[in-house]
Amino acid sequence: MSVKVQEHARDLDGFISMDLSEELKHAVQVSNLAFHVASELKLEEKVCNELAVAGMLHDIGKLKLLNYLYGEEDPLVIEELKYVRMHSTLGYEELVGKGYSEHILKSILYHHENYDGSGYPANLRGEEIPLGARILRVCDVYSALRSNRPYRKALSMEDAMQLMIGEVKYFDMKIFLAFQRVVHKEHETQKNGGYN
Ligand SMILES: [Fe+2]
Repeated sequence: MSVKVQEHARDLDGFISMDLSEELKHAVQVSNLAFHVASELKLEEKVCNELAVAGMLHDIGKLKLLNYLYGEEDPLVIEELKYVRMHSTLGYEELVGKGYSEHILKSILYHHENYDGSGYPANLRGEEIPLGARILRVCDVYSALRSNRPYRKALSMEDAMQLMIGEVKYFDMKIFLAFQRVVHKEHETQKNGGYN
């Protein structure tokens, strides 16, 4: 077996034996939320659908890092952080040339850029950040806050929203307001017994 094939087989081994249910749940949440925020912003249906796809795939680069993060390499924590920051670029590289639109690819590549220019991988700021990536950023942060983490319990809708208001400099305000409307609408629907 060539080294390349061996590496690929080892990657697949990692994927199959890992429990990815949390990652999948997060991807579905971000996908749904991104679709609804894009609809709330009255974007074209095609763009909304593309954001649903980008939401599902936005963290796919993390799969490439599994061996570094949880595998035999056992790197130092600081190294792990450095690798984690590569995941948006790795995801983009994995998907480019496979028929995904430029909009989907750029949304994934820049989903960790912050509106104030403090994000990665390119320190883009404001409207330099593609619209899709700005939408994913808001949805991604919310979904992460609403999930259990090894170091904290999932936040309530109100607490997650409060925390994000405190950090609003990272987000596009127009998108953030649309996102708030979507989340409040969903919360109301759930309180009233869910969708019919
Ligand atoms: Fe990410």
